[in-house]
Parts: sequence; C-alpha cells; structure tokens
Amino acid sequence: MSKGSAGPIERGYIGVGLLGMGVVGTGVAEALSTQGSLLEESIGLPLKVQGILVRDAGRSRSSLVDASLITTEAKDVLEHPDVDIVIELMGGEDAALPAIRGALADGRSVVTGNKEVMAKHGAGLLAMARAKGASLKFEAAVGGAIPVISALERGLTGARVQTLRAIINGTTNYILTRMAVEGMAFEDALSDAQERGYAEADPSNDVNGTDAVYKLAVLAMLAYGSPVSPELIYCEGIGNLAPRDFRYAHDLGYAIKLLAIAKDIDDGELDVRVHPAFIASDAQLAKVDGVYNAVQFDSDLAGELLLYGRGAGSGPTTSAVLSDLIEVARGLTGRGGPRPRHTLSAAGRVRPIDELDFRYYLRMTVADQPGVLAAIARVLGDASISIASVIQQEVDETAGSAEIVITTHRSRESALRGATGKLTSLDVVREIGSIIRVEE
Ligand code: NAP
Ligand code: HSE
Repeated sequence: MSKGSAGPIERGYIGVGLLGMGVVGTGVAEALSTQGSLLEESIGLPLKVQGILVRDAGRSRSSLVDASLITTEAKDVLEHPDVDIVIELMGGEDAALPAIRGALADGRSVVTGNKEVMAKHGAGLLAMARAKGASLKFEAAVGGAIPVISALERGLTGARVQTLRAIINGTTNYILTRMAVEGMAFEDALSDAQERGYAEADPSNDVNGTDAVYKLAVLAMLAYGSPVSPELIYCEGIGNLAPRDFRYAHDLGYAIKLLAIAKDIDDGELDVRVHPAFIASDAQLAKVDGVYNAVQFDSDLAGELLLYGRGAGSGPTTSAVLSDLIEVARGLTGRGGPRPRHTLSAAGRVRPIDELDFRYYLRMTVADQPGVLAAIARVLGDASISIASVIQQEVDETAGSAEIVITTHRSRESALRGATGKLTSLDVVREIGSIIRVEE
C-alpha cells in the first residue's frame, strides 16, 4: 500500500512515521509528544505520529511516548496511508537505505540523520526526491545541532566555497583534547570517552576516521555541487598518535586535530581528506576542544566563516531533526519558503593524495651514533624534501637510541612516502613513530 490520497490539509493533520527510537529517535519522539502545540503553531497543522519502528519490542522505552505506536514491522510505518513524512533514525545502510528509497518512491518526504546513507547514496536519493516532488532533509547527518547543511544549502549559495576545514567527530576530538591537555595515552583517553558515553561500544568508525569521511562526503557534495564518493576520500585515523607527538606539537606552536578538509584546487578538481593534522595553535580550529565540532568555510564573497557547536548527543541532534521536520511540514501546509534545489553535476575528480604537497612532521627513533642525522638528511635531500627544523633528544642511553623530530618544507606526498620507505630500511632508523601533515 502506498501513501493515501487524502492530503494533510483535508485530513487535518500531518502524519509522521518514525524509524528508530534510540538515542536520537527517543529525543524526537518525546519532543513530538510534549511539544505538540508549539510545533502546530509554527506549522499550521498538528503533527500526528502514526508508528514507530524499532528492532527489539521488549526494550523498555520512554514513558512520554505512546507505547501502542511501537512496532517491529517496517510496513506498519512505511505503508501507513497517512504518513506524509518519514523520519529515519535507525542508522547504517541495510535497513535505512531501502526504507528511505521506499518512502521517497511513494512521494513521502524524508528527514534523516544518516551520514552513511547520505554519503554513499545522497545524490541519487536527492534526484529521486526531486522527481517525486518530495523533500529529503539531512541536517542531523553532520554536526548535530550546528546548522551546517542549511548554511551550504542557503546562506552560502551565493558564494564559492574555496576551502572547508572541519572538526566533525566529537569522539576523536574529545580523545585528542585529553591527550593534548593531560598527556593521556590514546587507549586511556578512548576508555574515558567510552565511560562518559561519548564513544560508542564499538568506536572503530570514529577512531579510524570513517565517520568523518561520511560527513565530509556530504559537505563536499553540497559545497562543490557534485557527488564525492567516500571511497575516494583519503582517510587516516588517530590510533597511532602518541602523547609525545602532542608535546612536540606544543613546543613547535601547533595543536593536533583530526581534520576533515575539502578544497577546490583547480578546474573542479578536489582535494578531500581526513587525517590528523598539525594546525597553528592560534588558529580558531585549534581551540575547538572536547566533544565540540566546528566547520570553517573560506569563500570568495563571504570570506571566513566558522560554525561551532555540539556535534552529537540526543538534544543537539533532536534539534536538527526538528528543524528539518518543521521546514518540511511547513512546506506541506503552504507556509514554507522555496526548497533548496540540489542540482548536482557529474562526480568531480578527486586528486589522489600522492599528487598533493604538504609540510610534514616526522618523529623517529634512531641509533644514537655518529652520522645518523647525515644519513637521514641525505635520504630526504635525494627525494627533494627540504628540512625546516630538527629536534634531537636522547631517549634511552642504555639502548643507545635517540628521538629525532623533523619538520619539512612543502613536499610532494609521493616523495615523502618514497623517502620514508628508504628511511625505514636504514639500519640506524629503529622506528618511524609518526608522520603528521601540517595544515596551513
Ligand atoms: P541508536 O541509539 O543505535 O538507535 C537506533 C534505533 O534504530 C533503535 O531504536 C533501534 O531499535 C532501531 N533500529 C536499528 N536497526 C533497525 C532495524 N533494522 N529495524 C528496526 N529498527 C532498527 O542510534 P542513534 O544514536 O539514535 O542514531 C540514529 C541516527 O542518527 C544514525 O544515523 C546516527 O548516525 C545519527 N546521529 C546520531 C547522533 C548521536 O549523537 N547519537 C548524532 C548525529 C547523528 P532498538 O531500540 O530496538 O534497538
Ligand atoms: N560518533 C559521532 C561523533 C556522533 O563522535 O561525532 C554522531 O555523528
């Protein structure tokens, strides 16, 4: 069965179907149950929840939500004739993608917080929504409470975004902040994040950068008007960083952040990547600490713009879902403004990381003996990598090892990789501990 013929105005209410009632879904379900009159005032018609899909019928749920609405049958929500707007908050791709496609195919509008689905399938889904005259809104997919999607869809549409740099994963930013401020080891900072409920039981997608890659793919698609496949985004997580990298960064005048970066380099070619980066400690992004997120745009007309706020959690994410819901609902009652157009062109070329130039920080453990520094400098020189600074510290007198930290001038990534391969094969180099790009 598909959407019924009576529209919301004839029916006298807007029907809402909720898919998922976890951290965010519960916040949304509670707001719909307790803030009905406020929402109605803004929209012009009441919102009526017709069904809430969950996986486990036996789980205890919020007492603020009518238990009779809860179902484990997707069709109770997706095929309900009086559902005008589907809110997808299940996460992942398996159940969410067919549900969103099914809803749009029936001409229902969709509000989702699903970065994975939007990163992998956003362009196709937006085209489907357009063809069906439905809306697809996804403010909650990136940056929680921060209205970053709305900034790209509306506020910045008149400007050309040249560079976007973002801290869009709260879990890793919390871990990096503890490592920087308290000298904590990565594993201890991660356990602390888990105990405080910031990191999920399985935090691998946060720690390895995948979560930030999905969010960056969504932002880059909107900023540059063409889909960017998450598979083409270079990605490096934070698991290899050591407390002493933060000490060296501090001494050199930098902070270390997991940055998501997208740049329009030339002729539509994009530089898009997620990796830990050194950024000058007086830069605004360097001061974004803890679970906070921030997105910084540099554009031709608007100049520099920084959006900062809570990137996750039930309250902030519910706020983003409700703002989308109100906008879509106002469209159904004739109170809305024009919808964003999303005219995306074919996928743009992503420049491979090997073809990009950066300054680098290299930390290595070496034998403490004559000629070592000269041997390292020769390998770097042969690769046309120019050294900017060197710090050497005696580490373990009995083992005869020393730690060398080198920063370089701008060099080609492929040259750096070639040189680190050669450095690793030198007998005197015991370990290359860290290689971190400097974001200028
Ligand atoms: P969550 O706590 O894991 O909740 C997921 C909900 O979906 C649960 O109610 C679960 O049912 C239900 N569900 C999952 N798979 C299902 C399936 N196959 N069939 C039926 N029900 C299913 O997730 P969340 O943290 O609320 O996140 C929801 C979405 O918001 C995700 O896309 C996430 O990336 C996004 N988001 C979350 C945050 C955040 O801070 N949590 C921030 C921004 C965006 P049960 O309750 O029965 O397990
Ligand atoms: N796991 C994400 C983060 C929250 O730590 O930022 C949801 O996007």
